[in-house]
Amino acid sequence: MTPEGDMTTVHARAATDSSDGHPRTRHTLLAEGLRLSYDRKEVVHGIDLQLPPGKVTMIIGPNGCGKSTTLRGLARLLDPSGGRVLLDGRDIGTLPNREVARVLGILPQHPVAPDGITVTDLVGRGRYPHQGWFRKWNAEDDEAVARALTVTNTAELAGRPVGSLSGGQRQRVWIAMALAQRTDLLLLDEPTTFLDLANQVELQDLLTDLNRRSGTTIAIVLHDLNLACRYADHLVCMKAGDIVAEGPPREVVTAETVSTVFGMRCDVLVDPVSGTPLIVPIGRHHTRDSESTS
Ligand SMILES: Nc1ncnc2c1ncn2[C@@H]1O[C@H](COP(=O)(O)OP(=O)(O)OP(=O)(O)O)[C@@H](O)[C@H]1O
Ligand SMILES: [Mg+2]
Repeated sequence: MTPEGDMTTVHARAATDSSDGHPRTRHTLLAEGLRLSYDRKEVVHGIDLQLPPGKVTMIIGPNGCGKSTTLRGLARLLDPSGGRVLLDGRDIGTLPNREVARVLGILPQHPVAPDGITVTDLVGRGRYPHQGWFRKWNAEDDEAVARALTVTNTAELAGRPVGSLSGGQRQRVWIAMALAQRTDLLLLDEPTTFLDLANQVELQDLLTDLNRRSGTTIAIVLHDLNLACRYADHLVCMKAGDIVAEGPPREVVTAETVSTVFGMRCDVLVDPVSGTPLIVPIGRHHTRDSESTS
């Protein structure tokens, strides 16, 4: 079967939603009893996870708990040691690479750019899955790359070698590449790393625009709990290779959950801007109590 033939099947199986008058394809991605291991050491222990279609899911949890591994498993960069990942109801491990890449984009935590590659060329690589024997580079690809450069504010970097960029500039270029792929499912592992606060908020707004306008299903691993609570429809809390809580941030995030997941005391207030949970950490120093007694 040709990749194009397979795609028809994937599209036919994906749900559609025309409630806003714009029929669109909704692809589904879920993990069933997913186990992931490095060598023979299991680090994700049989999780069930469905990304709500057309929603933004944030995955939070302490360092080393298996967030990146889970994302890599979902994008089949890592084969399961147990269970499976289903894309539109089909085992993702059985689908051709190009077919998956047209539907599912991932920005890993530590992407590596080929030596000497320019910004435009790297972002253009996001278009590779859309090309084939009968489909060469065309105006749509140019438009997708130009648009991705514009929205990530990287157009002025277009001719620069990626290796010469600052950390934040480079991160925005990787995001541009993921956006240029124009997939219905988008997985991003700590996309705000290296970004200043204004750029972090801008990126979350940009992803929300994408989600609302195109219905893109987005999953983001994020360490900033307050931005995660503000921008997530669905929050997934991981600890030691398991999912320990999930749901809307307002229902999931309590001082008790934060203590269970991160082993950290905190107050949970209401974010005065968004009304979502605002987590104020309580460390050993610089609390009113500790300063008044020291
Ligand atoms: N390539 C690898 N080889 C061996 N072990 C690995 C590899 N990558 C990750 N691990 C281990 O798997 C576990 C989960 O790692 P993972 O990168 O998924 O954590 P994470 O939740 O994304 O953490 P962080 O917040 O620090 O990015 C950790 O114990 C880590 O040391
Ligand atoms: Mg990680």
